[in-house]
Amino acid sequence: MAINWFPGHMNVTKKAIIERMKEIDVVIEMLDARLPGSSANPMLAELTGTRKKLKVLNKQDVADAERTTAWLAWYNAQPDTQAIALDASDTAPAQRLIKACRELAPNRGGMAKPLRVLICGIPNVGKSTLMNTLVGKKAAKTGDEAGITKIEQRINLANDFYLFDTPGMLWPKITIEQGGYNLAASGAVGRNAYDEEEVALELLARLKGPYAALLAARYKLDDVAGIPTLHDDVLLTEIGRKRGAVMSGGRVNLQKAAEIVLNDFRSAILGPITLETPEEFAQWAAVAEEAEAERQRKKAARLNKKGSGRRHDDDDIEQAD
Ligand code: G4P
Repeated sequence: MAINWFPGHMNVTKKAIIERMKEIDVVIEMLDARLPGSSANPMLAELTGTRKKLKVLNKQDVADAERTTAWLAWYNAQPDTQAIALDASDTAPAQRLIKACRELAPNRGGMAKPLRVLICGIPNVGKSTLMNTLVGKKAAKTGDEAGITKIEQRINLANDFYLFDTPGMLWPKITIEQGGYNLAASGAVGRNAYDEEEVALELLARLKGPYAALLAARYKLDDVAGIPTLHDDVLLTEIGRKRGAVMSGGRVNLQKAAEIVLNDFRSAILGPITLETPEEFAQWAAVAEEAEAERQRKKAARLNKKGSGRRHDDDDIEQAD
């Protein structure tokens, strides 16, 4: 795995989510619309169980609209699931969230059976921004009520609609190599977990096909049609040269070039981009699953071998006795 990411305290968060989940009707998972598959937390899927799910593809303003439509259709086709796209320019997101959640759980509502919703998301998907908008508007923050701690903040979006914030931090869980690179490119994992040059090269590998025109426009590259066939390191070198990331002697400073590419992607200067399609992501997931199954098979075989080795030793001891 190229991204070395081992966040702590996930077990504490997991326990807290399991506890909270008991009285939750709908789970909202906020995703980064630029990487809707990679920014989902696989652990959350396990914890959610059969509960209704609302996927919020946030930051749609910086994502590729066509791919967002494809992802919405993909999520909407899953059982007990709805998906909406959102961004911070929406000044009244509460109405959209309420509408979608009520559709998912039509049997809840009214003071006797308030709709209880949990909102989750890995860092950097824009959850705080959304929560601030929700709190700042009509919603009443009730985090200081007895029995409700500040980390388990509850917002009443309506008299019979309670929105609970995730207890603890839902870190990304990297199980798919390409997903790890996409998370690193987006800035969702800590800087110490990866090598910027490697992540920039992977990012260019993802961009050079579908977004060659955006790269050409931003970095003033002449041959747009040729971009998809360039080696990633040639492309990074060319970008570095065009942006003046050159050391004495004329060599391109690849570290600087990588920082430029990553910053441009994160700040959306390149243009609206989505790093993965549902089909691509499903393919990566299948490969990762097969690799994991193979790892488990090898582990089991190793343990078996060790076990039978031990039995032979025991036989020897018994014979010696
Ligand atoms: P988090 O709680 O999920 O960790 O995310 P947070 O709200 O802190 O947002 C992470 C970054 O994403 C912030 O940028 C925020 O401004 C930006 N952001 C949030 N929602 C949207 C959106 O809908 N569209 C776009 N384009 N960006 C969004 P930052 O650079 O880290 O901080 P700053 O710009 O707020 O200073």
